[in-house]
Amino acid sequence: MVDKEIEKTIEALLEERREFKPSADFTSQANVREAAIYQRAADDPEAWWESQADRLDWFQKWDKTFEWNAPHHKWFIGGKLNVAHNCLDRHLDSAGDRVAYHWVGEPGDNRSITYSDLHDQVCRLANGLKELGVSKGDRVAIYLPMIPELPAAMLACARIGAAHSVVFGGFSAESLRDRINDAACRVLITADGGYRRGQIIPLKLNADDAVAECESIEKVIVVQRTLEDVNMQEGRDIVYQDLIEAQSSECEAESMDSEDMLYILYTSGTTGKPKGIVHTTGGYLTGVSSTHHLIFDIKPESDVFWCAADIGWVTGHSYIVYGPLANGCTSILYEGAPDWPDKDRWWGIVEEYKATILYTAPTAIRTMMKWGIDYPNKHDLTSLRLLGSVGEPINPEAWIWYQEFIGGGDAPVVDTWWQTETGAIMISALPGLTTLKPGSATIAFPGVEADVLDDKGGLVGKGGGGYLVLKRPTPAMFRTIFGDDERYRKTYFEKFGDEIYFPGDGAKLDDDGYFWLLGRVDDVMNVAGHRISTYEVESALVDHQAVAEAAVVGRKDPKEGETIVAFVTPRAGHEGTDELMIELRQHVAKVIGKLARPHAIIFTDDLPKTRSGKIMRRLLRDIAEGEKPGDVTTLQNAPILDEIREKAKSLGSRDG
Ligand code: WT7
Repeated sequence: MVDKEIEKTIEALLEERREFKPSADFTSQANVREAAIYQRAADDPEAWWESQADRLDWFQKWDKTFEWNAPHHKWFIGGKLNVAHNCLDRHLDSAGDRVAYHWVGEPGDNRSITYSDLHDQVCRLANGLKELGVSKGDRVAIYLPMIPELPAAMLACARIGAAHSVVFGGFSAESLRDRINDAACRVLITADGGYRRGQIIPLKLNADDAVAECESIEKVIVVQRTLEDVNMQEGRDIVYQDLIEAQSSECEAESMDSEDMLYILYTSGTTGKPKGIVHTTGGYLTGVSSTHHLIFDIKPESDVFWCAADIGWVTGHSYIVYGPLANGCTSILYEGAPDWPDKDRWWGIVEEYKATILYTAPTAIRTMMKWGIDYPNKHDLTSLRLLGSVGEPINPEAWIWYQEFIGGGDAPVVDTWWQTETGAIMISALPGLTTLKPGSATIAFPGVEADVLDDKGGLVGKGGGGYLVLKRPTPAMFRTIFGDDERYRKTYFEKFGDEIYFPGDGAKLDDDGYFWLLGRVDDVMNVAGHRISTYEVESALVDHQAVAEAAVVGRKDPKEGETIVAFVTPRAGHEGTDELMIELRQHVAKVIGKLARPHAIIFTDDLPKTRSGKIMRRLLRDIAEGEKPGDVTTLQNAPILDEIREKAKSLGSRDG
């Protein structure tokens, strides 16, 4: 089909079938078929979550299900369990030979790892960590590419009760350093490098730079992925393989309290350094296991699940590692880029491993749309029976394209809303039950009480728009911000009080009570499905010697969701040249990581400010969007706006 025809197909499908009822075929085999599940969960949420906690193997049952000292909450109090035991040991008798991961390396190497293989490796590494002095309650940093050693490292920590802090491999040395220092990690697990678009990412080099400024790090474990020559510091650095080969493959799983910390994962906030989101043991595993089973309709014996995210983000923690393994299911783990060596790489993997469920982000779907249907058409994708989307609102056209050209026209598409903080999916269809509407995340998961409030905390009701909120804690929700409980309260519970969690998103309720997510309402941007705060990028920019002031905004982008636009005032003696622009982009990549690089930089002599000197980002956002700036009455230096607008014309129209 040519582009025009595809557009017509999409338009016609949107017009014709704004709503998609689950097919009788899908429903007849679905894990949930009874709509009564919602009422049951609403009538007695604690009993509902207990029934989900029963999916796990507990060493000791809890005495109390739920305790709520708003804004704090605890789940399954007194219960004892181990996450690695639940993800591995308990499957060994019935499914030891089942593949846990079909791993595909970017250069074309691959390995299928069974539950027994993974158990073996995890036990050895857990023993190795113990030998290095890591014990219950310690923190371990992990900075690895998408290789099997990454989930193994996470599970080894969980096995001995150490909390892991995974840092995405695309982050810079400085980002890694700050995260290690914030949590005072004792050990870092990294690799010599990883592959991305045929290039080697020098992880060990970054790790060395980071660790040079981390007092807490005692040992660095290095996986040999690329076999590049890397510096190995005597007494500090250990080769992963050498460490695990010397260990026993038996290691008792530590009995952990339900509320013990499982991991820390950093995410961007509106101000200050990234927030260490703290997830605990029993509640988190309950949430990810339950949502994975019900939303993705998992049949562990036959499904091949592919969450194509990076484990460095929460999506990967919950739906590549903990959810799928807790459910004993087979997953695909792919190391590299979707267009390497060519733009059909994903579809070749789906065909080869007969993936049945694919979970990815709208930005990836839109990129694939742009590449065209020749790439998916080269492969047999008929194994796919269910599709998922996460990370940002999915536009109806992309939804339809995904269903039509990847899902064969009939695979349900579940759009799942959640966050690093919520740990597990909060708003999503259940594919055997819910009527789908392209562009809407549909309704709250059983046991989740979501709503939309106006500025004063009143319900907006059906048809209204406002702030999305969660009105009661759920087991997988985070417990606090590592080392900064005050910030936890301030960030999430200031707006509507201690009992109402405010995630920072705007939403609309339609006449059926479906949620339509509208994006962030705070100063956090969503770039290709990843949260980046305007503050972080501004801090990185002003950190450069040529920059006096900087303001950063997100600009809506048809492919990436949002792109970053920076308004920069150079210091006296510096010119806003193209060279400086390149240098600043490189500088941001170095300080934060490539994903935070501004797409455009506009140099200006001044920034629009209020009389009290506050930069008015709202007006800059209007300009970046190519719109007329809104209310300027509180501005002290209004003329500068016209100048900036003139310069911003180079950004072009949105579709340009
Ligand atoms: C923010 C959370 C949770 C995994 C990936 C991102 C946005 C997430 C959706 C969706 C509309 C979505 C929200 C949210 N978001 N999923 N299905 N529809 N928006 O995790 O980095 O913690 O970002 O991503 O704005 O607050 P995260």
